[in-house]
Amino acid sequence: MTDRTKPTPALSNEITTDEIKDWDNKHVMHPWATLSPENPDFGLIQRSSGIHMVDDNGKRYIDGPGGMWCVNVGHGRTEIAEAMAKQASQLNYVSPWTSATEPSAVLARRIAAETPGDLNTVFFTTGGSSAVDTALRFVQFYNNVKGRPEKKTFIAREKGYHGSTYLAASVSGKERDRKFLDTNRDFVRFLPNVNPYIRPDGMSMDDWRDEKLAELEEMIKDVGADKVAAFIAEPILASGGVIVPPEGYQKGCLEICRKYDVLYISDEVVTGFGRLGHWFASEKVFGITPDIITCAKGLTSGYVPMGAAIFSDRLLDEIKHDDHADIMFSNGYTYSGHPVSAAAALKNMDIIEDENLLEHVREVSPHFQARLRALGEKYRIIGDARGMGLVGCLEGSALPDSPEKERRDIDYEFGHKMDVAAEKRGLLVRPIINMCVFSPPLIISRDEIDEMFDILDDAIAEVEAEMLS
Ligand SMILES: Cc1ncc(COP(=O)(O)O)c(C=O)c1O
Repeated sequence: MTDRTKPTPALSNEITTDEIKDWDNKHVMHPWATLSPENPDFGLIQRSSGIHMVDDNGKRYIDGPGGMWCVNVGHGRTEIAEAMAKQASQLNYVSPWTSATEPSAVLARRIAAETPGDLNTVFFTTGGSSAVDTALRFVQFYNNVKGRPEKKTFIAREKGYHGSTYLAASVSGKERDRKFLDTNRDFVRFLPNVNPYIRPDGMSMDDWRDEKLAELEEMIKDVGADKVAAFIAEPILASGGVIVPPEGYQKGCLEICRKYDVLYISDEVVTGFGRLGHWFASEKVFGITPDIITCAKGLTSGYVPMGAAIFSDRLLDEIKHDDHADIMFSNGYTYSGHPVSAAAALKNMDIIEDENLLEHVREVSPHFQARLRALGEKYRIIGDARGMGLVGCLEGSALPDSPEKERRDIDYEFGHKMDVAAEKRGLLVRPIINMCVFSPPLIISRDEIDEMFDILDDAIAEVEAEMLS
């Protein structure tokens, strides 16, 4: 019911941008909100098209982070908007508890055709966190049904990020995010950072990989294989700073999991739907067929929320029995398989196919990665330049020999300064502490990649001059 004590907001063409910013400040709590008394200065983006976004002053930016690693087919796709409108007019909603719908059935079949091995059963969710939550809850359910209630520990990794619901946050390993929020530590163990950048001087990549694999095996043995339920891992760790584990790592982890009857959950929320040049990266890039894959983001290219947990037939077959008819996986969402989201996802997949975007990513990635690494070579302030496919990270290293506290403050400044310097030049990046990461829409052309890295080049020059002078 309308609250008549409050003024009714005017239609959007009657309100000023200052009013919008003011209302945002007063009434919207953004993700990862800080409680600083000063209001953060959120930019107001009003239009978007292709790889660009336009703010309230009409200034155009390259969307470096691709929204939030999600706008894979680019902005302004009217064909997706039309598919959503058509579906909403024909059937806006029906309960997934009781009914099937054409778009969700067609989408599930199409996803199953692209997943590795026997991962053929799709559980639709509302985003990445709920996909991870569903995967973890399914593993608990699976072991309960199998009569192994003790097999419940999840092994996750430092710097991993799997979402913001309680369970997904509990397996996320970014220390800063846990500082003021509770997570459940009783059933989660964390492996140390796999980032090759921090390996001891002189250590080979192969030795680093073997050390990381040994840590996983040791942890399983330490907890007891009969108590470890699953290992959860992003193929490359995205929000933790685009950490690309050493070659052979994912395969080695899967072999260890198989040896100890531990399930492998591959969190492809970022890597799925083309970021590394394939629908899914687990098998095509890293040679593994996990037991469960989670995805979201690129599934709809951010046009509307949707995620999925995709299960192996083997797992389901193991727990399907006649006398289990009353055993229920009591997990689900009002909007599981939402027909409008499914229609958007189907059109998104059409675009990826019709425009050969997976091939395009494979074609332009080497150039993207070469330009990225050249910045690492060129500037003293860049400690590491790393990435894969169309995702990259520049890690600042302002004063590598200074004391920890001082270095941390300076590093924070690097992320912030890079953000400001790039934005000034028409490029949005995502600052994460001492890093700046980017994952542009997959439609980015070779020339636009050059434009993006030319801007970064200029921006780093400015930041380096300021910070290292
Ligand atoms: C690997 C990974 N998993 C899960 C999530 C959570 O997804 P969402 O924000 O859609 O809940 C994210 C979000 O960035 C992610 O990067």
